[in-house]
Amino acid sequence: MQTLTIIQPDDMHLHLRDGEALKAVLPFTARQMGRAVIMPNLKPPVVSVADALAYKQRILAALPEGSTFEPLMTLYLTDKSTPELVREAKAAGIVAFKLYPAGATTNSDSGVTDLFKLIPVLEEMAAQNILFLVHGEVTDPEIDIFDREAVFIERVMKPVLEKVPGLKVVFEHITTADAARLVMEAGDNVAASVTPQHLLLNRNDLLVGGVRPHHYCLPVLKRESHRKVLVAAVTGEKSHKFFLGTDSAPHAQSAKENACGCAGMFSAATAIELYAEIFENAGALNKLEAFASKNGARFYGLPENPRTITLVKRPQQVAPKVPFGNGDALVPMRGGESVSWTVEY
Ligand code: DOR
Ligand code: ZN
Repeated sequence: MQTLTIIQPDDMHLHLRDGEALKAVLPFTARQMGRAVIMPNLKPPVVSVADALAYKQRILAALPEGSTFEPLMTLYLTDKSTPELVREAKAAGIVAFKLYPAGATTNSDSGVTDLFKLIPVLEEMAAQNILFLVHGEVTDPEIDIFDREAVFIERVMKPVLEKVPGLKVVFEHITTADAARLVMEAGDNVAASVTPQHLLLNRNDLLVGGVRPHHYCLPVLKRESHRKVLVAAVTGEKSHKFFLGTDSAPHAQSAKENACGCAGMFSAATAIELYAEIFENAGALNKLEAFASKNGARFYGLPENPRTITLVKRPQQVAPKVPFGNGDALVPMRGGESVSWTVEY
């Protein structure tokens, strides 16, 4: 049987939530990832260093016994963030600030209304060498939801990179050929995370034959031509600029299967297996380790994980549902179907 041993991966974009939900989802990530970059969009959001350090303690307390998993903490950028906060964050070991344009996605109400008013804050991020993680979508109601990433590039991303050339930017969960091109053409201070869903699915998987609420996430799935460019980007000549970030974002089944369904896909249960499928289908399994375990660590200035994990080419059934605390259930990505790789734990 085909096996593949790689350096233990990191998930550079993860939603863990809090309380019972945190306890329910964390073990899935902790058993396959060495580290994860923890998104700060809690209710209320993680805006201060004290908030982040307290959240980190709750994550560590929720880990299974003996786990060596390390959460990498981030702060939620708001209109009130200051250069001082950036210095404080750096000193406390916070790895990044996350931009949610106000109204862009789940719990983004406290997000930034005008990024150009925060240029001094971004300049301090560059000076402190702390990363700037970007949810790259405009929220202007006049812009079609499928165009929001492409418009963001022109209206925000390019001008910001020009104004603050030393800023280290992760263009998060990219979904379009436009974003892949921007990253490939930018300097080495710009990289991107890519989710399993945006590499595996297109908007037909969301809308053909009935609305599939479990495939609804933000940025929304795009057309097949974009998916193909993303696969080419993560396996191609400039693939060192792209890395694993699942954006695994749990929502209760009842909140997904709803007249106004929440955005987010829970992929943490079989994340590396899904990526293995993607790289295998692209004939690029030899590039999986760099994408999953090296490129992100390098960009974040971290050592590679000391352990390895072994994937076996043996199909596994993905559970149709996973308990989510308080009697709720989660429907994982591929739930009730199979994934062609299995991690040997
Ligand atoms: O689909 C998404 N879900 N996209 C995001 O940007 C946020 C996330 C969440 O927190 O549920
Ligand atoms: Zn996210």
